[in-house]
Amino acid sequence: MSEFEWDPDIFLATMLGEIPGYEELQDAVAAAAQGWNVLELGTGTGETAVRILARSPGARWTGIDASEAMLEHARERLSDADLRVQRLEDPLPEGPFDLVVSVLAVHHLDGPAKRDLFRRITEVSDFFVLGDLVVAERAEDAAIEIDWVMDLPSTVPEQIAWLEEAGFEVEASYVRPDLAVFVARRTSGLATT
Ligand SMILES: C[S@@+](CC[C@H](N)C(=O)[O-])C[C@H]1O[C@@H](n2cnc3c(N)ncnc32)[C@H](O)[C@@H]1O
Repeated sequence: MSEFEWDPDIFLATMLGEIPGYEELQDAVAAAAQGWNVLELGTGTGETAVRILARSPGARWTGIDASEAMLEHARERLSDADLRVQRLEDPLPEGPFDLVVSVLAVHHLDGPAKRDLFRRITEVSDFFVLGDLVVAERAEDAAIEIDWVMDLPSTVPEQIAWLEEAGFEVEASYVRPDLAVFVARRTSGLATT
């Protein structure tokens, strides 16, 4: 059982109510995230997956999430996907994947765990697209509520530094002051353990 127990039946409505810019974030990630063999971190009910698969029909999808209840919902929409109850802190599914993508899940990890995850992603893919809640540059511009218990966002510069340390070249852009998209590529090939 996951501690992140959203009600899957009202998940989208909850996100649309709590996250101004939710659709814009999903659209920006979908526009950047192309791949035919994809690993998603934090699939939830499948909101991100259905948007990306609409642009890349037939792509092979592997998704992990800590919540069986959320994945049960996703399975109804993503009948061909390999969806596993698994934490982001666990060893990632075996690659290689031509894309790793994640939306609004990585910010639940603290800084060291994000940094470790970014390093482990390089062992399974050389292309990572992350759309997530970030700490706004100016606190007064932030509109999304952060509880600092389950929500542990980092700044954009911190995450760029951890991605670069892992060997990625990174382009980051803000969807809103507290939502950002990171497009991270490695040109040196997959890292070995
Ligand atoms: C806000 S939802 C986002 C789902 C989907 N990507 C979207 O954009 O709608 C966050 C998801 O991440 C999952 N999650 C949070 N922390 C996690 C962790 N440490 N390991 C695995 N899944 C986690 C939650 O169970 C939840 O389904």
